[in-house]
Amino acid sequence: NRNKMERQEQQKASRLVFVLYPSQGHINPMLQLATILHSKGFSITIIHPKFNSPNSSNYPEFTFIPISDNLPESQDSFGDIFGIVSALNKNCEGPLTECIQQMLKAEDPQDRLSCIVYDSVMHFSQSVADHLKLPGISVRTGPAATMFAFAVCPRLDEQGYISFLESMSLDGKSDLLSLLLKELAFSMKKFTAHGFLELRAAVTDSVQRCSALILNTVDFIEQEALTKVQELFSASAFTIGPFHKLTPTISSSLLKEDSHCISWLNKQAPKSVIYVSFGSVASIDEKELLETAWGLANCGQPFLWVVRPGLVRGSNCLELLPINFQDSVGERGCIVEWAPQKEVLANDAVGGFWSHCGWNSTLESICEGIPMLCRPFFGDQNVNRRYVCDVWNVGLELEEFERGKIEKAIKTLMVDTEGEEMRKKATHLKEKVELSLKEGGSCYNSLNDLAEKILSFRP
Ligand code: UDX
Repeated sequence: NRNKMERQEQQKASRLVFVLYPSQGHINPMLQLATILHSKGFSITIIHPKFNSPNSSNYPEFTFIPISDNLPESQDSFGDIFGIVSALNKNCEGPLTECIQQMLKAEDPQDRLSCIVYDSVMHFSQSVADHLKLPGISVRTGPAATMFAFAVCPRLDEQGYISFLESMSLDGKSDLLSLLLKELAFSMKKFTAHGFLELRAAVTDSVQRCSALILNTVDFIEQEALTKVQELFSASAFTIGPFHKLTPTISSSLLKEDSHCISWLNKQAPKSVIYVSFGSVASIDEKELLETAWGLANCGQPFLWVVRPGLVRGSNCLELLPINFQDSVGERGCIVEWAPQKEVLANDAVGGFWSHCGWNSTLESICEGIPMLCRPFFGDQNVNRRYVCDVWNVGLELEEFERGKIEKAIKTLMVDTEGEEMRKKATHLKEKVELSLKEGGSCYNSLNDLAEKILSFRP
């Protein structure tokens, strides 16, 4: 008991500095992780670029420090996400170093800075940690499979990557990891190969130097990728579970959540509603918006559809929806600009999730036992779709934004026996994840090991 008390005292005296990457799909898991470690007794400082600043008022116990990011007013000038990532990694290094130097100067022995916990995309943070002789912990908010893919061929350009895949003697049909690598190779074609190349190399370098790696995943759902990650990096990898299941639901949404959809859901029959959301980044064109609308109108199921501002680039999406669409769906459809997604997925009325397969959405769906209709757009979303449809077998793929195909796919998921089988498997998967979070489970143990590891950094 004395040991336990001493440990608690030590934890209170340990402060963790978090460095956020300013995108919704990264802010959510990082603030969840900070909340988990805060509940383990650590104090928390959140350092974030000014762009997409999180709402600090929902986290009164954390200290938030914005740093200058020097991004231009309009992000459109970058052309793609990698341009923003690269600019952030260059522009934030000075401000982060200065900020932490000041913290160290003013350090109170009762409140010592223990380490820098950074989103692996903000890889410059490891250089700052090295420079200041502090331990760095890299957090991969996406699937472990992407960390493996980054590391296995960080310096190959697009052509080299593809030849590498072709040269792999593995049978593409049966070998999961080569399949996942192919998914990433495919998505790369849609992005400047150079930006992706630079990011893969830089993330891999930083993870090679970090003191620990935290992954937002569970051992059994990504066993093969995790084994490879452990082989490729010397730092211990902690798989503490889907972060959102270890914290109370606190909103970290950048857009205002419209909770009227919850009262609408409460009026629907159990498992009848198809929830549709493509996350915070993906965009579609006007034709795809209309095909989606008519697919939903024709499928006959009640639907909750998130049409966020910017879903169709440069348009007010809601104005694009024809009046006869609204008339034909009436009360059967509910459209919001942004939903309290975790609450939505936990509602009994929801029976399926048509998703872009962002990693957060994927984890949130499987943790509620909701089968998915997958329509990935880019990057890890293709890998995640592979997991959902072909590895865990809890979803099916939508091939095309075409109203007839959409209608058919939704019916398969929501009413056919095929969908029923997926729902059973999803329930089973949910239960297995819950077990791993309970005392003695793999995530539970990993979290305790992580807390011990952090305490060993600066005793
Ligand atoms: C991005 C990438 O696109 C994704 O591939 C990567 O895995 C993470 O970073 P994003 O596209 O926004 O994320 O998708 P996702 O990972 O699913 O994260 C979206 C988050 O926003 C989820 O936590 C979800 O609960 C939340 N959300 C989404 C809402 O709260 N309300 C909504 O209406 C829609």
